Amino acid sequence: IFAAVEMAPRDPILGLNEAFNADTRSTKVNLGVGVYFTDEGKIPLLAAVKAAEKTRLEAAPARGYQPIEGLAAYNTAVAALLFGKESPLITEGKTITVEALGGTGALKVGADYLKRLLPEAKIYISDPSWENHRALFESAGFTVENYPYYDAATRGVNFAGMKACLASLPAGAIIVLHACCHNPTGADLSDAQWAEVVAVCQERGLVPFLDMAYQGFADGIDADAVAVRAFAASGLQFFISSSFSKSFSLYGERVGALTVVCSSKEEAGRVMSQVKRVVRTNYSNPPTHGGAIVAAVLASPELRQQWEDELAGMRVRIRAMRTSLVEKLAARNVPQDFSFVIKQRGMFSYTGLSADQVERLKSEFGIYAVSTGRICLAALNTKNIDYVADAIAAVLK
Ligand code: LMR
Repeated sequence: IFAAVEMAPRDPILGLNEAFNADTRSTKVNLGVGVYFTDEGKIPLLAAVKAAEKTRLEAAPARGYQPIEGLAAYNTAVAALLFGKESPLITEGKTITVEALGGTGALKVGADYLKRLLPEAKIYISDPSWENHRALFESAGFTVENYPYYDAATRGVNFAGMKACLASLPAGAIIVLHACCHNPTGADLSDAQWAEVVAVCQERGLVPFLDMAYQGFADGIDADAVAVRAFAASGLQFFISSSFSKSFSLYGERVGALTVVCSSKEEAGRVMSQVKRVVRTNYSNPPTHGGAIVAAVLASPELRQQWEDELAGMRVRIRAMRTSLVEKLAARNVPQDFSFVIKQRGMFSYTGLSADQVERLKSEFGIYAVSTGRICLAALNTKNIDYVADAIAAVLK
């Protein structure tokens, strides 16, 4: 049965890890995948997470099945991060949250549910978008199209193009929006532009799906929830996928959540029953550890503060790497002005490097980046940044 099976291409992001791991050069640098490393080049185990894990280990809880929707305390805490604790959506019971296997798992549960709910709808993702968005929604059976987003000339958002496209879509079209720290471009909408997007969604009857994988990496937990809260205030029904891979440095624990905003508590109950069917037929119920740790950190005022401080530390270090890279490239007299890197938000820079230049970075220097020119600033450190700046300067000349 496998005789005619073709070799699938490597994943455009995670496939780079495979190639990087096989590279024997000691100077290699992985700027491909979106993972935060410390200045020592290590993935941190956050102190707040370590403390919560110690308490959990000592309590030695049994590992029974979780409810299909996951841990209640976790789901409540996720909703509070998204909407703010006092949000009327929460107090009126209009939202449901289910624990999911990372942000990707949340997107897939949402996609599978949407396919049952709106089987004829098309999905619209930004041009460009996270490499996995198209494949994920296509694998749920949708036709996926792009709306204009990035403007290479200004290194910002082509907002007029985006808005005009959204305003032309039929009712029921599903639009995937990056709630903050747009992946891969780092170019976000302003608060006023978000208000306009909300208005277009209302006018056209669009179904927003907000992908929130980097809350806290631009300006902070509440500041980065501006888009979510603008939609929350609108009365629209919408979907949100959350990921805590980056913000809690819990990549391998696969901690995420799908939140759906409904128009009443009664409706939310019915929607929850359907989303649970999707979960049950995919993986039954989520694992226990990651969600329990996130819930414990968020429930303790001390650990929560410690976590927010650690998150701020990551944010500040990434910003320092942005500034440093710009300065180092300028000092090497590269032909382009890279100051736009400082304005981009989140973990990534959309550098404008071509696929050929990215290929040269890999083959000549052992520096791995996504072929679109996206690099992860959070993998730069004070030891490898000169090497990376030298290599970028070399491929640009
Ligand atoms: C990324 O964009 O690099 C991250 O979101 C990791 C992933 O799963 O692709």
